[in-house]
Amino acid sequence: MSNYQPEKVAQMYDSLQDQGETAILLDQYHLGYWDETNSNASITEAANRLTEIMIDKVTIQPGERFCDLGCGVGMPGIQLSEVTGCFVDGITISESQYKKAQQLAEKAGISDRVHFILGDALNIPCEDATYDGGWFFESIFHMGHNKALQEASRILKPGAILVIADLPARSTMTEEFKALCEENSHSFVIPKEAYPEVLDKNGFDLIEINDVTEFVITPLVPNMKIACQQHESDFLKYLNAEQMKDWLQLDRKRRGMEYVEDEVIDYWIQMLQDMSDNLGYALVTAQKKK
Ligand SMILES: C[S@@+](CC[C@H](N)C(=O)[O-])C[C@H]1O[C@@H](n2cnc3c(N)ncnc32)[C@H](O)[C@@H]1O
Repeated sequence: MSNYQPEKVAQMYDSLQDQGETAILLDQYHLGYWDETNSNASITEAANRLTEIMIDKVTIQPGERFCDLGCGVGMPGIQLSEVTGCFVDGITISESQYKKAQQLAEKAGISDRVHFILGDALNIPCEDATYDGGWFFESIFHMGHNKALQEASRILKPGAILVIADLPARSTMTEEFKALCEENSHSFVIPKEAYPEVLDKNGFDLIEINDVTEFVITPLVPNMKIACQQHESDFLKYLNAEQMKDWLQLDRKRRGMEYVEDEVIDYWIQMLQDMSDNLGYALVTAQKKK
């Protein structure tokens, strides 16, 4: 990946975070999971469900050390520590997220077990073989899979389990969408078929690739439409703030269409529809070679 620009990723998440709290800006910066057991779940509830599914995939013992690589505001790592009793270090490139993560850990009364690092997950300030487990929870595509796995391999102990939640490219992904991902959201996507080789090359054995597109991507737009109706004023605030507005304006320009402020919710849904047409969702479990 030639044009890796961590400062742009930091700026993007700082600006999203600084848009302030609304009922829809979650403490979990990832998508939701819906199946027959929670088909009416809100976006927030479904995001929590996905965290629970990720936690179920982790193998870690009380007192062991886990690294949350690209931790957002830290909530998934906090929940993991609460459930398993492990120590978590979460690393994010965004200063605003880092500050919020520290507040959330304090609020949860878990600051003795969960710590945050402001830095680059491609250059983690720790010794080799420090951690007993780790995950990239919707973050690896910002870092580039190869480099991210190389560093994960360095910091994990032999035999440690690594879990990855990723949005892989569909075989039908257009070149235009790929370029948009790279330019606008600093994301570098790979097809799920590329996983076995990139894991192996970086010292991991693949345990499982679980394609959950039908539970994450397929229900996304219908559920987002409902959320937009239920929380219209929150969404208008969110979508009219600087970073989102920039994205939506760029998207309209690309389509050669006028930008009308009152129509931002429609533009947002259209952007998510494009994402759903081009990307799937996979949960990957791997083990650092012994
Ligand atoms: C979509 S968010 C996911 C956040 C969190 N894992 C969650 O599920 O709530 C992507 C995260 O990756 C982090 N990130 C991206 N590139 C990074 C890098 N090079 N080093 C550290 N964090 C990075 C961002 O700061 C952000 O927190």
